[in-house]
Amino acid sequence: MGVIDLFCNTSSLCLDRPKLSPSCCSLRRSRMTFMTPPAASAATPVKEDDQQECGSSLSGDSFIRPHLRKLAPYQPILPFEVLSTRLGRKPEDIVKLDANENPYGPPPEVFEALGSMRFPYIYPDPESRRLRAALAEDSGLESDYILAGCGADELIDLIMRCVLEPGDKIVDCPPTFTMYEFDAGVNAAVVIKVPRKSDFSLDVKRIVEVVEQEKPKCIFLTSPNNPDGSIIDDEALLQILNLPILVVLDEAYIEFSGLKSRMRWVKKFENLIVLRTFSKRAGIFFYLSKS
Ligand SMILES: Cc1ncc(COP(=O)(O)O)c(C=O)c1O
Repeated sequence: MGVIDLFCNTSSLCLDRPKLSPSCCSLRRSRMTFMTPPAASAATPVKEDDQQECGSSLSGDSFIRPHLRKLAPYQPILPFEVLSTRLGRKPEDIVKLDANENPYGPPPEVFEALGSMRFPYIYPDPESRRLRAALAEDSGLESDYILAGCGADELIDLIMRCVLEPGDKIVDCPPTFTMYEFDAGVNAAVVIKVPRKSDFSLDVKRIVEVVEQEKPKCIFLTSPNNPDGSIIDDEALLQILNLPILVVLDEAYIEFSGLKSRMRWVKKFENLIVLRTFSKRAGIFFYLSKS
């Protein structure tokens, strides 16, 4: 059985082979494994220049779920190697500003900790017990309420997979982080857009109407919002939390606001999920707070 491992960021996952004939394809965290049919390459001579026929005249694409075939491709960021070749500059001479990354890299303690991991060859704890205990201590929210994911992007997708049936509706409030709309498409959900007002505040009145009329399952709210940094005030949030809808409050940039996270509100509101991420907190914010 042939196995190809691709390590990739789920947000920039892109299948780009003209004819794909997997017998099995699984995605676990950010590691993707394709298993090809048993010893096909050993037993049968393979014409390399030719695209292989699978079964009758089925194309690889025909195995992909129809709604995914219609999706507009996500535009992933370009890695240093590609940028470097395109720009004719060394990676060290490029400062990327398109993905809110920390251009300085991690502090030396991170390399030391990674280099001294005790069992790097064993799968890590699937329940992230030590991390969740540390986060519980840091946040004052018991670890039973905390789920660790491979980035907020993975959690957004997991929430949708757990909550949405194909055809269910979500509310999105653009301009905002585009991953909610993209993942909704992947999960065959319908996106109802309630655009923000000209000052980027939420149009709460319209959200209430849409929830009553369209009965969406969940709403994605971002505070501080990406791209403008606007904050959702308590009054607006409480009004939305009182609706019969799952509220996913994305606080990826909360550290930059100087405001307190609403993480602990989850104990009071059964319909609230709060997202936070190390990619901002321990990335560029770490440097800003130290400088
Ligand atoms: C609002 C917002 N939420 C979530 C994310 C994704 O975070 P992560 O890096 O943890 O996947 C981003 C990334 O830019 C973001 O802007």
